[in-house]
This record gives sequence, C-alpha cells and structure tokens, in this order.
Amino acid sequence: MNLILLGPPGAGKGTQARRLEDTRGLVQLSTGDMLRALVASGSPLGQQAKDIMAAGKLVPDELVIEMISQRIDQPDVKNGFILDGFPRTVAQAEALDKMLADKGLKLNHVIEMKVDDAALVERITGRYTCAKCGKGYHDTFEKPKVDGVCDQCGGTEFKRRADDNAETVTTRLDQYHQQTAPILPYYASRGVLKGVDGMADIDVVTEQIAAILG
Ligand code: AP5
Ligand code: MG
Ligand code: ZN
Repeated sequence: MNLILLGPPGAGKGTQARRLEDTRGLVQLSTGDMLRALVASGSPLGQQAKDIMAAGKLVPDELVIEMISQRIDQPDVKNGFILDGFPRTVAQAEALDKMLADKGLKLNHVIEMKVDDAALVERITGRYTCAKCGKGYHDTFEKPKVDGVCDQCGGTEFKRRADDNAETVTTRLDQYHQQTAPILPYYASRGVLKGVDGMADIDVVTEQIAAILG
C-alpha cells in the first residue's frame, strides 16, 4: 500500500507515519528528514538546502523529486511507502504521478490532516526528538515516560530542529497555503483524497487513519 500524508507543518505527518511504519511495515519517506541528512552531510547541495530550510522556504522541486525517485527504488520500500512532506507543489504532484507510472506503482490513499493554524506554532515549538533513535516527543503533548530518557532506546540526548521557531513557522505556514494546499483539489478530482481531524488526540488520529486504510 502506498499513501501520502498531506498537511501543514506540525499537522502530525511524521508522528503518524512512524506509527504506520511500526504497525503496517510501510516505509516513511520524509523529504524533510532526507534534506536534514543532506544538510548534516555538509555537501555543497546540503549547504544550499540549509539556508532555504532555515528560512522556511521550499527547496527546488528537481532536488526533492530526484531524492524521492531514488529512494523508492530501494528494496526496503517494496511493501509500500508513506510519503511525508512530498509532494508539496503541483509540479511535484505531477512529477510523482509520472514517476509512479514509470515504476509501475499505484497510489492508494492521499490523507489530508486538517488542523487549525493557531495550534501549529505550539506544536512545533514544543517538539524535540531523541538524538540516538529519532523518536519524536513534545514538551506538553508527548513526553517520555521517564523525564529526560527516551522510551524507545534509553538515550538521554535530545535535539530540536533549526526551523522550529515561531518566526520560521509563520513562513512555513504561508508556503503551505500558497504552494501545497493547491494540490488538494488535484487529488480530490482523482477520487483518492480523504481527510482526518488532525486536531484530535494523537491516538484518535491514528484510529481515523486506520479506518481509512482498512
Ligand atoms: P518537513 O520536515 O517536511 O517539515 P514540515 O512539513 O514543516 O512538517 P513538520 O515535520 O514540521 O510537521 P509534521 O506534520 O511532521 O508534524 P509532527 O508529527 O512532527 O520540511 C522541512 C523543510 O524541508 C521545509 O520547510 C522545506 O524547506 C524542506 N522541504 C521538505 N520537503 C520538501 C519538498 N517536498 N519540497 C520542497 N522543500 C521541502 O508533529 C509536530 C508536533 O506535534 C510533535 O511534537 C508531535 O508530538 C505533536 N503532535 C502530533 N500530532 C499531534 C496531535 N494530534 N495532538 C497534539 N500534538 C500532536
Ligand atoms: Mg515531519
Ligand atoms: Zn531514542
């Protein structure tokens, strides 16, 4: 099964994608995570992406399209994938269609996570992840069971994203409304678009997605 989780920054795409990896054996393909790895590698391309991401703007379509195309060809993706943060422009959505047709793959569901802009700043500024295993947490909404210790791996170091500040979030939200929201009608017209209430509790959102996937 192949699906897209669509929604603004902080909607919960990453949170739900990781749960689907655990429960369904699907692979999370997050262009944001791939780009952060590219930035961390220190390559010239990474350096270029770093400044764009820190400003909350979108990196060039060609770069993310190529990253996704190469990643989908890897053997671990054969049971299906969850696209998280891609496509983000109409050009990316069109490139994805072509790519999937070329590779003989099908898109089963596009799930829009609907959230109020006002809630997103708090979600994003409170977010952090385990430095060792990458498990996501939140200062208020998803704390580790033992303070300062990762539930999953026991790690005690955590990190926050460079773009997770109130100022950059505003730009990221603007980019979502201007560039990404226009792809919703694109999928609605193909009959694959479903919606979940991203304002509900994390477990409730998980249940809503499960009901769609069957
Ligand atoms: P990316 O990494 O994709 O970031 P994003 O889209 O801004 O989304 P986030 O990761 O911030 O949010 P999320 O929906 O995953 O929420 P999460 O589950 O963490 O992109 C970063 C940058 O990379 C972009 O700005 C751009 O520059 C570049 N980029 C990436 N892809 C690109 C592309 N295709 N084209 C061009 N440029 C691209 O949840 C957030 C927090 O809320 C967490 O702490 C979580 O615990 C909590 N939470 C989650 N769900 C709930 C809930 N239901 N209730 C309460 N709290 C919740
Ligand atoms: Mg994410
Ligand atoms: Zn951990």
